[in-house]
Amino acid sequence: MNIENLPDGYFNEGDIEAYRKLVSDLDTDGKMLEVGSYKGRSLCSCSDIINANDITVYVVDNFVGAEAFPGDCPDQKELCKEFFKNMTEFSLGVMLSRGNSVEKAEDFKNGCLDLIFIDASHKKEDVIADIRAWLPKLKIGGVIAGHDYKRPDGTQGWDSVKEAVDQELPGSTLMTGSVWMYRKDHE
Ligand SMILES: C[S@@+](CC[C@H](N)C(=O)[O-])C[C@H]1O[C@@H](n2cnc3c(N)ncnc32)[C@H](O)[C@@H]1O
Repeated sequence: MNIENLPDGYFNEGDIEAYRKLVSDLDTDGKMLEVGSYKGRSLCSCSDIINANDITVYVVDNFVGAEAFPGDCPDQKELCKEFFKNMTEFSLGVMLSRGNSVEKAEDFKNGCLDLIFIDASHKKEDVIADIRAWLPKLKIGGVIAGHDYKRPDGTQGWDSVKEAVDQELPGSTLMTGSVWMYRKDHE
């Protein structure tokens, strides 16, 4: 994986290292979901592992874009097109549920996913809503994780994400970059 070749987006080296570890830990034929893909940078950074291990990938995105960065909210159709162009370039066959995260969670059965990665809206109330909507969809033993948890030295991440994750999932841990993770050990 060459970071220079990845699509534009928000994943740095530390984030990529963490996500690759999470995806590598999945069994062959595992099922993962990414909530918030934008142009697909985070997924493409793991494309070799996903393809080698026949991981099924679900994506939920409304393609509104990265609202915190007004220049990064292109036309929704264009963003969706760009996402699929990048999926094709990295040989990723993903199943897209286009729309709002919390609503789309209703289409998934409880306990059907091995890994859930949350990188959609970073508002505290939205991160809380995403965790509450998606956690039931995770298998016992599965991992829910996400991007932009504020690092203790303040160099990366968002206070809002940290506050939401600390409140909803005490016991979650920080990986490299600004990736948090939590293993579900009970309903
Ligand atoms: C920060 S970007 C994701 C970055 C991406 N993971 C990367 O590696 O570059 C957030 C994405 O989440 C999507 N999004 C934001 N709020 C959402 C919501 N409520 N439901 C679905 N998608 C949402 C946006 O359209 C955008 O594509």
